[in-house]
Amino acid sequence: RPRVLSGIQPTSDSFHLGNYMGAVRQWVDLQRDHQPFFFIADQHAITVDWDPKLLRERTLRGAAQLLAAGVDPEKSAIFVQSHVPAHAQLAWVLNGLTGFGEARRMTQFKDKSAKGGEGAASVGLFAYPVLMAADILLYRPHYVPVGEDQRQHLELTRDLAQRFNGRFKKTFRLPEPYILKATAKIYDLQEPTRKMSKSSSSPNGIIDMLDDPKVTAKKIRSAVTDSETEVRFDLGAKPGVSNLLTIHSALSGESIAALEEQYAGKMYGDLKKDVADVVVDFVTPFRERTLELLDAQDHLQQVLAQGAEVAGQVAESTLRDVYQRIGFVAPT
Ligand code: TYM
Repeated sequence: RPRVLSGIQPTSDSFHLGNYMGAVRQWVDLQRDHQPFFFIADQHAITVDWDPKLLRERTLRGAAQLLAAGVDPEKSAIFVQSHVPAHAQLAWVLNGLTGFGEARRMTQFKDKSAKGGEGAASVGLFAYPVLMAADILLYRPHYVPVGEDQRQHLELTRDLAQRFNGRFKKTFRLPEPYILKATAKIYDLQEPTRKMSKSSSSPNGIIDMLDDPKVTAKKIRSAVTDSETEVRFDLGAKPGVSNLLTIHSALSGESIAALEEQYAGKMYGDLKKDVADVVVDFVTPFRERTLELLDAQDHLQQVLAQGAEVAGQVAESTLRDVYQRIGFVAPT
C-alpha cells in the first residue's frame, strides 16, 4: 500500500475549518487504502513565540481532534513529532544541503518574518521548511495531503530529496503533494481573499471547530459577501459567496452546480443560514467527541506511544541509511 504522511502544528486551541477541509479530511479518507503516518508538529510550533503550558495542552488537543475527526489509530500511526528524534536528526543533515538563498525564498518565511523584520525572526523559522522536508522524507511517502499553502514547501522537499539521491545514493522517494483543488484553500469569512489562518486579524473570520456552535453559526451569518444578490461560484468576482459554497458543498456532498441551482432567486441570507446549519451539524458531534477524548488522557497517551513506536522504527531505519551514506561513522 502506498504511504501517506502529513502533520499539523499545535499552535492554536482548535483546528479551524481550513485545516479540516484542506488536510485532515483527506487524511481520514486516505487511511483506508494507504499506510498512513500523521503527526502533531510540536517542533515546528517553537519556531515562533510559544507558551510551554499551552503547547503541551494544544499538542494533546491536536491528537484528540485527529481522533475525533476520524483518524483511526488502528489504521494510522498517530504521533508527536518530538517523540521521534530522527526528525530533528535528519533535518540537521538536510540543513547542510540547503542553500541559504533557497530557504530565504520560501514565501511563508517572508510572510511570517515580515512583521518584525528578518532580524527578529528565529533561525528555527528560517529552517522550518528543512525540518518539514525531514518529516516527510524519513517515511518515503508517496503522497503528502496538505492545503495549497504548503505546496512550496513540498517543492523544496522534492528538490532536497533529488539532491541527496544524486549526490549520495538513491535514498528518498520524491513525494507527490496531494492537494484537492476544491478545498485546497478555505478563505477567511471576513476577508474572503485571504486564506483562513490562525493568525488572521479578526477572530470572526475563522471557524474554530471547537468553538461553541452558536458562535460559529453567528460568524457564518455575518460573513462578508458582496453587493450583488446572485448566488454564483466565482472566486474572482464573488470570493465570499464562493467560499460559502465551497464549505457547503464539501460538508453536504452536494455539487456547487446543484447548489447554484438550488439558490437561484434566493438571497444571500438563505445561503448563510443553510451553511451555518451544515457546519453546526458537523462541528457539534466533533466537539463532543474531542472533549470526551480529552477526558481519557491515558487512552490518548497510549495511542501516541503506539504511533511513535511504529513511526520511530521506519524513521530510524531511513536515518541509519542516511548517516551511513553521508559518511558518519556508526557507533559500535
Ligand atoms: P498547519 O498546521 O498550518 O496546517 C495544517 C494543514 O491545514 C492546511 N490548511 C489549510 N487548507 C485549506 N485552507 C486553509 N485556509 C488552510 N489553512 C491551513 C495546511 O495546508 C496543512 O496541510 N508546515 C505544516 C505542518 C507540517 C507538515 C509537515 C505538513 C510540518 N511538517 C510534513 C505535511 C508534511 C503547517 O504548518 O501546517
